[in-house]
Amino acid sequence: MKVCVVGSGGREHALFRALSATAEVVVTPGNPGIPSSLSRPAEEIEADLYVIGPEAPLVDGLADRLRARGKRVFGPGANGARLEGSKSWMKEVLAAAGVPSARHAVFSDLGGAVEYLKSTPGPYVIKTDGLAAGKGVLVTASLDEACRDVEDKLAGRSFGGAGSTVVIEECMEGPELSVLAICDGKRAVPLAPAQDFKRVFDGDRGPNTGGMGAYSPVPRAGDAVVGQVMDTCVEPLVAELVRRDIDYRGVLYAGLMLTGEGPKVVEFNVRFGDPESQAVLTRFDGDLAGFLAEAAEGSLRSEPSFSGQACVAVVLASAGYPEAPLPGGMIEGVTTAEEVEGVTVYHAGTALDEGGRLIACGGRVINVCALGADLGVARRRAYEAVAHISWPGMHFRTDIAASVAPPEPDEVSR
Ligand code: AMP
Ligand code: GLY
Repeated sequence: MKVCVVGSGGREHALFRALSATAEVVVTPGNPGIPSSLSRPAEEIEADLYVIGPEAPLVDGLADRLRARGKRVFGPGANGARLEGSKSWMKEVLAAAGVPSARHAVFSDLGGAVEYLKSTPGPYVIKTDGLAAGKGVLVTASLDEACRDVEDKLAGRSFGGAGSTVVIEECMEGPELSVLAICDGKRAVPLAPAQDFKRVFDGDRGPNTGGMGAYSPVPRAGDAVVGQVMDTCVEPLVAELVRRDIDYRGVLYAGLMLTGEGPKVVEFNVRFGDPESQAVLTRFDGDLAGFLAEAAEGSLRSEPSFSGQACVAVVLASAGYPEAPLPGGMIEGVTTAEEVEGVTVYHAGTALDEGGRLIACGGRVINVCALGADLGVARRRAYEAVAHISWPGMHFRTDIAASVAPPEPDEVSR
């Protein structure tokens, strides 16, 4: 089977690697880490299966355009991708489906939004309605900061048109969890769960990012928790999509909070999570191309299976990320990092300069993923590999999976 993956980040690099186990894979536009990168639009590439990575082309209807040409596509059409394209619409669908989620209100006018904020006790959660690459959310205890954020979003200063409508939510509490489910339009099957790290700095401080690291499996989310997420969150959503005549074939990515009242949905995304997929797909065992093709055909039959090993993914980012990433300099040490046992290095925001040297050119630049017998071993290997990589201004979190990794033998003896 020939597969065409659309996208250029670490997620697409991980898709390339996992799909290559059983298929011939090309990636458009790809990146310097992916040997079969092509700079032609997907519509001009012949393939048996198209897998669309990022949300923007899905919201823009790329899956519909390919299907209109008779292609087999893994990724929802624009009507399903609206779940991610409009948070207010997603909240309406979740409410209709009876999926537990934060109470919310939607505003396009500043007066109404400020009045509402003043009437609630806080902390305040303010989101852009439209796409903002994971960065459009402010969670704050300060009413002043909340009011300023609403003003900046509605005026188009912080997120342009994506912020012309804002969603204000009740603040939920509890550990977060990502469950990616593969949906064939009628039913959905979960992949191994993952934990994402959204804030830029150690200890979950600083602004939200697209994700600074991930790990899988998640000790607190065994089969019972994943079963509960499927029963109360994913399956009711699939039923509601069917009821609305939306033939959703792609990933339903549930961003969840495990609250005292059970799992609640923070949001649904319509694609593989980044960097969760790097951690999850590196553990995928078997024929991913065949599995996604079944979903694309509307008839999932296989069950996904995962290596018993754990995986930890650490994101290396450019100076200034997430607010204003600076293009970095030359990246050193990738080859040495790849020599560490269990390690795969995925490229995200890299480029080649005129001399063919690898340079940093985006916010999230490199993802270092390591497999190991448990999360402790995977984590040690990941950070050992990270220590080999550098470029001016590179930064990363040092606490990915720290709270769930068993202590290393040398830590126990100290
Ligand atoms: P989102 O882009 O909607 O996934 O939100 C980004 C992050 O903001 C989430 O991963 C949470 O950490 C936080 N967040 C979003 N919505 C809420 C909420 N209603 N209550 C508490 N935290 C939230
Ligand atoms: N890791 C968060 C996301 O993919 O949106």
